Amino acid sequence: MKFKVESGGSLHGAIRVPGDKSMSHRTVMLGALAEGTTIATGFLEGHDALCTVQAFKDMGVTVRGPQNGRIEIDGVGMQGLQKPDNVLDMGNSGTSIRLLSGLLAAQRFDSTMTGDISLQKRPMGRVTDPLKLMGAEIGSQEGRPPLVIKGGQSLNGIHYEMPVASAQVKSCVLLAGLFADGRTSVTEPAPTRDHTERMLRGFGYEVERENDVISVQGGGRLTAATFDIPADISSAAFFLVAASIAPDSDLTLEHVGMNPTRSGVITILTLMGADIEVLNEREVGGEPVADLRVKSSALVGIEIPEDLVPLAIDEFHVLFVAAACATGRTVLCGAEELRVKESDRIASMADGLSRLGIENEVLDDGIVIVGGPLKGGEVDTYNDHRIAMSFAVAALRASGTIHINDCDHVATSFPGFAELAASVGLKVSVES
Ligand code: S3P
Repeated sequence: MKFKVESGGSLHGAIRVPGDKSMSHRTVMLGALAEGTTIATGFLEGHDALCTVQAFKDMGVTVRGPQNGRIEIDGVGMQGLQKPDNVLDMGNSGTSIRLLSGLLAAQRFDSTMTGDISLQKRPMGRVTDPLKLMGAEIGSQEGRPPLVIKGGQSLNGIHYEMPVASAQVKSCVLLAGLFADGRTSVTEPAPTRDHTERMLRGFGYEVERENDVISVQGGGRLTAATFDIPADISSAAFFLVAASIAPDSDLTLEHVGMNPTRSGVITILTLMGADIEVLNEREVGGEPVADLRVKSSALVGIEIPEDLVPLAIDEFHVLFVAAACATGRTVLCGAEELRVKESDRIASMADGLSRLGIENEVLDDGIVIVGGPLKGGEVDTYNDHRIAMSFAVAALRASGTIHINDCDHVATSFPGFAELAASVGLKVSVES
């Protein structure tokens, strides 16, 4: 599938983008281990979350839906998962494989997890190292999937100082900690998304946080709960940038998750001069939510503060498009993690931006982008959903049509992106 995006346009209207991917994964994982039936609305029906659903079905959990964002999970309790008959296929989803490795390391049965070509290249030592310290037996292909997990190991609680600021690593260790003897604690080098902690509490499990140390006591139980999952701020980000860069735009994004560990994109865009109004702030299911009204503005290049990097880790690709449309230079450093996402997001974006006439300089841990006129052209997505959507947004300010190859992966996080974007004014069409 390819996107053809004609140049120009402005964005108007009010939309709700699909549900939060991180929360959707965690709802299934914790719902499966809980006692009782967990019900969630706003669930993301994207491929990544569906991989997590399928994995738990493969382990004997009854799941109804998702349909129209509603999902019901009949929890089997902490010890109720069954040995899957097959290799668990995590598709494109780093969150599925990394968080599940923590849960599976503590089961009685053996299991193997793999994924698509992109996932098979992603580093797993960051989760297998701490799990091995807890007593897990896990094999990998030189630190990459497939992960082969030997069941029947008893895990012990550890204190783990995370070498990278990663919510997936933190969550993996904490989830293994639910099954471990004693206390498991994790120190994060910088704050990362805290959905696991919030959701564990929502399922009635005590999680302690003291400064940068988060801990759980093993051996507790989870009680089924009801969740209303907000719209994913990572998906909203495409429209925050789109309405900022397209002239005469006025767009409202409804019911967006505003967790402070996720809202770095709003801070960065505001520093660049974006006009984003945060309306109707409220709390839903333990997570802050708001409507965001965004209007066109003249953006300026900035040096992105490094402490904001983990808080906007999934939004930089589209922020690079904002930088291309800004006056002056934007500098990003301290973001080497972008090189091990669904693609090397620094290299993939630099390639596409260059093809569209935007001057940039790739750094080991970031990029320098010089704002200037965007031209039309053909770009590759490197099979990365978010690269595809970012270049679709760029067409709003390009002088010609942008053709985007290999857009199938868009459905991993944002099914219906092209249709929703077209409904508010992006001139995007889908070609096979
Ligand atoms: C996620 C954590 C982040 C993020 C990913 C989702 C999560 O990954 O990039 O899309 O749900 O915990 P890292 O932990 O590798 O930073």
